[in-house]
Amino acid sequence: MNKKIIVANWKMNHDFYETTYFIRNLIKNISDKKNFYEKEIIIAPSFPFLHISNQISQGTALKIAAQNIHYSNNGSYTGEVSTLMLKSIGVNQVIIGHSERRNLFFEEENILLKKIKTSINNKIKIIFCIGESKNERKNNKHFFIIKKQLEKTIFQCSEEHLQYIYIAYEPVWAIGKGITPTIKQIQEMHKFIKSLFYKKFSKTIPIIYGGSVNDKNAKNILSIEGVNGVLVGNSSLNLNEFIKIIKS
Ligand code: PGA
Repeated sequence: MNKKIIVANWKMNHDFYETTYFIRNLIKNISDKKNFYEKEIIIAPSFPFLHISNQISQGTALKIAAQNIHYSNNGSYTGEVSTLMLKSIGVNQVIIGHSERRNLFFEEENILLKKIKTSINNKIKIIFCIGESKNERKNNKHFFIIKKQLEKTIFQCSEEHLQYIYIAYEPVWAIGKGITPTIKQIQEMHKFIKSLFYKKFSKTIPIIYGGSVNDKNAKNILSIEGVNGVLVGNSSLNLNEFIKIIKS
């Protein structure tokens, strides 16, 4: 739990050349330093570039993750990708439940739970995103919403499955908006999530924060008690900025 986790979620950005250039240069820039040992660094490029990204990262500590997955192992699901396919190219990690998947692609908790279970069955590690909307925060429902999101998904798993799971707390109102919650708001939510895990499983798992993390605020956010890492969207697209975040 001591290693800070830094996840880059590239969303639908970076083509083949940008992806390979970025990953080669990231490795060049940080592999000779302690960064790889002190931090767990995970990059989530688009599906077509997972294989080449994973090949470039072989022999380094950089990990490659997918941004989404289907809950079946195979079948008639045009346009979808399965965890078995990920495994076959050596990718063992996936982001599930990002608010963009929930809001733009209508992924509800029953679907997310199926994705979680399939991933765990196939020993794929999960970065599971949860977070309240602006209105839910305004109406003081944020703790209630987070609890509900966990109860319908991760809390349906058993304790032995927790080794495969990281939680990313991402308030939807902070994602891509250039606004971050206060230190107090992040700290109290992480504390709350950890307390729910203790209550349910008598243990906790890494909880990372996401939402407008950049090279200016990463250091402060990473030093908040209970924050085990960060999930970075926009600011992970620029190589220099992302290196600054890793070194902060
Ligand atoms: P952002 O995105 O860093 O651009 O706010 C974070 C995310 O969507 O995970």
